Amino acid sequence: MEILGIDIGGSGIKGAPVNIDTGEFTMERHRIPTPQPATPEAVAEVVAEIVQHFKWQGKIGCTFPAVIKKGVVHTAANVDHTWIGTNGEQLISAKTGCPVYLLNDADAAGVAEMELGAGKEYQGTVIVHTFGTGIGSAIFFDGQLLPNTEFGHLEIRCKEAEHRASAQNRTDEGLKWKTWACRVNEFLAQMETLFWPDLFIIGGGVSRKHEKFLPLLKTRAEIVPAQMQNQAGIIGAAIAAGKQLDS
Ligand code: BGC
Repeated sequence: MEILGIDIGGSGIKGAPVNIDTGEFTMERHRIPTPQPATPEAVAEVVAEIVQHFKWQGKIGCTFPAVIKKGVVHTAANVDHTWIGTNGEQLISAKTGCPVYLLNDADAAGVAEMELGAGKEYQGTVIVHTFGTGIGSAIFFDGQLLPNTEFGHLEIRCKEAEHRASAQNRTDEGLKWKTWACRVNEFLAQMETLFWPDLFIIGGGVSRKHEKFLPLLKTRAEIVPAQMQNQAGIIGAAIAAGKQLDS
């Protein structure tokens, strides 16, 4: 089955129709810069443009970098605050005329990795982290997602983890890989104390350069790079919509 996957990020909104059995894009990915300010109305307009680009009429799975419960956005750590309380599912559905399933961006990336990537058929506790502007998290037990974990907001040395150890911290502060990896290690150590995962999957744009920092990460659990990198959001959103929206 094909479902349109859309990934709403801070700098770009990307979409592609996805074959949800294989994860393959059936048409080339289309990207439009995120409008500024990224208000619900402006973002929904861009999503509608992507839908028109593909002349899409079916189901849509869509990511958003916030806590999402029953379509409603509940937090806004790195997004426009006017999103809080907005039913993103209803808004995008009204703009596009298509059924929409909205979920957290890291949850979507995690779903893609668990179904078709680095965590495929893995049993036990798996934690997926995306390192970007913030730190996203998704936790699975025997392949089952516990949605809306926000582990990037865990406090370490009196600061939220995503304000010390995100990929953006590395570039903004000009940190050496080793220094940044030390900060990530502190974060992962906390995660291990609390959840005892069997596997960490490290995603987000920075995972493209995993050979620079993965060998510096010291965890009790096995640790591997994500396999889908910046496609994971689109693919995971489509797969999740396939499971959540009625046929
Ligand atoms: C948000 C999460 C999101 C993560 C990655 C955090 O700031 O609170 O919901 O998954 O950034 O985008």
